[in-house]
Amino acid sequence: MISNVVRWLAGASFLLAVTVGMALGQGGAGKVAPAPNGIVFYPDYPNWRVLAVSHREDNNSLRTILGNDVAIAAARAGNTNPWPDGSVLAKVSWKRVPLDAFPGAFVPGDFMQVEFMRKDKVKFAATLGWGFARWKGMDLVPYGKDASFAQECVACHTPVAQSDFVFTHPARLGGGGK
Ligand code: HEC
Repeated sequence: MISNVVRWLAGASFLLAVTVGMALGQGGAGKVAPAPNGIVFYPDYPNWRVLAVSHREDNNSLRTILGNDVAIAAARAGNTNPWPDGSVLAKVSWKRVPLDAFPGAFVPGDFMQVEFMRKDKVKFAATLGWGFARWKGMDLVPYGKDASFAQECVACHTPVAQSDFVFTHPARLGGGGK
């Protein structure tokens, strides 16, 4: 009798350990490592709203530029030069593939990467007032060996100093104001 109880308890605790282990394992796999400059991933970005789209011919990619709530409010108000602190812009890139059902149309294929710029003119004073970060591939691998990766971003974004180092001009929306 006692040995049955012991056996039952042993079985139950084994099952519990497996369940907890699986839950922890899944939580672990779902976690995205921070960028080498300490910027933490923005897991909510798929719910952000669209500011613009773009198409790069040289590497055959389609992109959308999204904004968090602060950035969208600033864009709608035409208040983007400078962008207010707390604005986060995301650029999501996909391989450009032809739409089989309609020649001449192109659509997003494989997901390539997502990049972010977070405005905080004091915290990120050393990198144009923006915190830059990029995660690559479906596994969201942080880009860059160390924090110096951001110098690449800075170098290419510096020429657009007159628009607060941002290339994107929010696209006009019919019925949506400016
Ligand atoms: C070779 C030039 C170049 C480099 C390097 C570069 N960018 Fe950009 N970035 C651009 C251009 C051009 C755009 C405009 C939109 C597009 O490309 O589709 C842009 C747009 C962006 C946007 C959307 C806001 C905006 O400025 O329009 C984000 C966010 C962004 N880049 C993040 C990054 C990050 C993070 C890095 C570094 C890891 C980086 N960029 C490096 C050229 C560059």
